[in-house]
Amino acid sequence: MKAKAVKMADGVYWVGVIHWHSRTFHGYGIPGTTYNAYLVFGEEKTVLIDNVYRGMFEQFDARVKDAFEQEGKDFKIDVFVQNHSEMDHSTFLRQTIAEYNPDAEIYASQNCINFLEAQYHNFGDLEINAVATGDELDIGGRTLKFISAPMLHWPDSMFTLLAEEGILFSNDAFGQHVAHSKRFDEDYDTNYLLREAQKYYANLVTLGSPMLRMKLDELTSTGLINDIKMIAPCHGQIWKNPAPIVEKYSEWGSGICKDKITVIFDTMHHSTEKLAYQIAEGIMSEGVEAVMYFMQEDGPDDVITDILDSKAIALGAPTMMNKPFPRIGNMMYWLDCVNFKGTGSEKSALIFSSKGWGGGAVAKLQRDLEEAGFTVTDTLDVLFVPDEDVLAEAFEKGAELARSIKE
Ligand code: FEO
Repeated sequence: MKAKAVKMADGVYWVGVIHWHSRTFHGYGIPGTTYNAYLVFGEEKTVLIDNVYRGMFEQFDARVKDAFEQEGKDFKIDVFVQNHSEMDHSTFLRQTIAEYNPDAEIYASQNCINFLEAQYHNFGDLEINAVATGDELDIGGRTLKFISAPMLHWPDSMFTLLAEEGILFSNDAFGQHVAHSKRFDEDYDTNYLLREAQKYYANLVTLGSPMLRMKLDELTSTGLINDIKMIAPCHGQIWKNPAPIVEKYSEWGSGICKDKITVIFDTMHHSTEKLAYQIAEGIMSEGVEAVMYFMQEDGPDDVITDILDSKAIALGAPTMMNKPFPRIGNMMYWLDCVNFKGTGSEKSALIFSSKGWGGGAVAKLQRDLEEAGFTVTDTLDVLFVPDEDVLAEAFEKGAELARSIKE
């Protein structure tokens, strides 16, 4: 197989892979993705930063070889840096070491060393150097600075800064699941990339928000943030202009939200649907942004994306056998997993339901939402089909929720 490496700076190449037809990752829908790896040529040592996922070795290996050919150098990697051990970035690490230099130096966080062995059971014979914030490596005219970044995305995650060029190899942080032929942010619309980055953050990074805030504070207080000229994540486009994504990460990680309410519903005989539509009209009547999701058709991953920067949600499910309609249960598990409370945002919730007789959905959703960190401020539990009076009540409850979040 042939594949060209993409030059990012003198002696720095993207040697990752494009997984064009990947459609799910971590259970959420994606339009393809990339697993980015990077080759850095120092005067004395050549460094590979990160690796790729299963089924992708041939494309990766061809790109690595192309980078060596572009540099006119023999196929020899002196240093392997592994920023994170999750399989999408490490599947062929052992094989790459064996092919390109069994005696190479290897650097990773201590957690990463432990996790590699626990996943692959074949790293025990290798000497891997544990590094953390403050450790540096001279590769000949160039310096790698290691920066621990736990929970961005796993406890083992770290960043590696190529100091002279200011290129931050950030692994999962600042990534996006997109698959494009060009590698840089400047090749695509910034708002589109930020939306994809928001989906990625909401679904994969939200839980690590407290650690993100600490990391951004640390990078700011040490002045390192000013040294970062380019951010090269392990998924998606490389940020030649890091300012927009750093600003967004700061917002998302700090719970800064818009005057926006995400309405989520499922329905059996269209009664809960009618309530959802009226609640949305009430929200809009107050000039607040409303986003609507129907859980028969929409994925929880998109809902999570919009909840990230919403100040409130309105969640509706019909009652079935004294409980919420089951498809809403999948949504609830996602809400419980990502833990928006970690961002510092206080999200309020309106619960609505249509019931046949005794009800039960509202009480169950209230318990679940409160456990997931939401403050339930209002409920609407309707018997069978809403009449005009009930629809007017739903409208007013939407409007009241909107008024309650307006600044
Ligand atoms: Fe892209 Fe946590 O791996």
